[in-house]
Amino acid sequence: MDRRRFVQAGSASISGMLLLKPGTAFGYETNSAVRLGLLGCGNRGKSVATSFAQNTQAQVAALGDLFADNLAGGHDYFGKLNASLGHPAVDAKMLFRGPHAYEQLAQAKELDLVQISTPPFFHVQHPVAAGKHVYCEKPVGIDVQQAKEALEIAKRVKSTQSVDVGFQCRNAPPIATIAEKIKGGALGKIGALTGNYNAPASTEKKREGESADEYRLRNWLWDRALSGDILVEQNIHIIDLCNWMIGARPLKATATGGRNILTHFGDCWDNYQVDFTYPGDIHFSFASTQFGTDGVFDAGLKLFGASGSATVPYSGPIQITGANAWAWQDSTSAGPGSGKFAANGAFSDNLAFADREKERAFLASITDGPAHNQIADGVGTALSCMLARMAGYQHREVTWDDLIANGETYQPGFDLDQFA
Ligand SMILES: NC(=O)c1ccc[n+]([C@@H]2O[C@H](COP(=O)([O-])OP(=O)(O)OC[C@H]3O[C@@H](n4cnc5c(N)ncnc54)[C@H](O)[C@@H]3O)[C@@H](O)[C@H]2O)c1
Repeated sequence: MDRRRFVQAGSASISGMLLLKPGTAFGYETNSAVRLGLLGCGNRGKSVATSFAQNTQAQVAALGDLFADNLAGGHDYFGKLNASLGHPAVDAKMLFRGPHAYEQLAQAKELDLVQISTPPFFHVQHPVAAGKHVYCEKPVGIDVQQAKEALEIAKRVKSTQSVDVGFQCRNAPPIATIAEKIKGGALGKIGALTGNYNAPASTEKKREGESADEYRLRNWLWDRALSGDILVEQNIHIIDLCNWMIGARPLKATATGGRNILTHFGDCWDNYQVDFTYPGDIHFSFASTQFGTDGVFDAGLKLFGASGSATVPYSGPIQITGANAWAWQDSTSAGPGSGKFAANGAFSDNLAFADREKERAFLASITDGPAHNQIADGVGTALSCMLARMAGYQHREVTWDDLIANGETYQPGFDLDQFA
């Protein structure tokens, strides 16, 4: 399917896991609003909620955030967005600040859907609450303990409740199309994969008079306990594409890496080199960096099979060579490395329509069914990343069973109630 046809089809195709009252699921009047509460009014939260509001029948009806300035920024931003779309303004009584904002959103009977866009550590901190659909950012958990908790939460999701995890790359039309071909056998037996995620360094967020804990929370990306490190927090998109396209999880991994360039606060590594072994002795060689200052961003996956190869970059030609040669006709960018990094995940090039398609598919699951429950799948990918992280930190091969039995656990070590 080419992009135009895909676009026309409209692709009707956690915890942060607050779990529409079943009575209201699948019973939406055409075009009736699905009322969305956003938890975490940062870069990604605003970007995804904007996409929901612009591309679906969701309307932003409530906001929550730990910090007053970010909540106020969100209120101002969605005030203008809602006005531009003819949606009602967010009522002042639907603004929730502090560490218990998630509970208030979960309990608000005015809401159908909660979008969790907080830092990764909190995705599995928020409890499953009565009756909400949930859109939760990746990763589903930063350690094995959180992954196990998420799997318990997954069992309690009702059949009419929809829970999505933020792997929007799967919904990008060129990627969805090539994945369909790969899964259909276009490459023959897949023998090996390579992948990379080279991203720019992130910038510091600093405020006068803030405490050390507040500084950590605002710079969570650099903090292992809050983010899960770059493999689990960011590189996860490519590792997810690998698992999804070959339909398997890694059995074991070896990894190296470290912090070779970055000198600022934090304990996340700035580079990883990983060798994953999948069933059938398929190897996936993955490398990442997150320290560039030249603005170059390059991420993608290559699959090598008996009948051909597939190239799946964020930017550049998406194609299959060999017996079943095929190319996405609408690639607009020059190639891997020419892409511009978008800290809010709203990429151009091959990912241009990823968010829109993801949000439309999720809303369709709420209004028309069938409901999604993507928690276990999201946990599978998060654990795959933790496998490589553990292999890197411990300088040894780590198997899946070893990870599940002995995986590291992380705690930020501060009391969030200090921000009440
Ligand atoms: N899918 C993607 O492509 C993509 C892209 C970027 C970020 N993300 C994910 O989105 C999430 C948010 O990332 P971001 O870049 O928007 O971060 P951000 O720092 O810009 O925003 C996080 C927001 O959450 C708030 N917050 C922090 N702790 C909170 C808590 N306990 N309760 C309520 N609010 C809290 C912060 O004040 C801030 O407003 C992360 O999980 C990240 O991995 C996904």
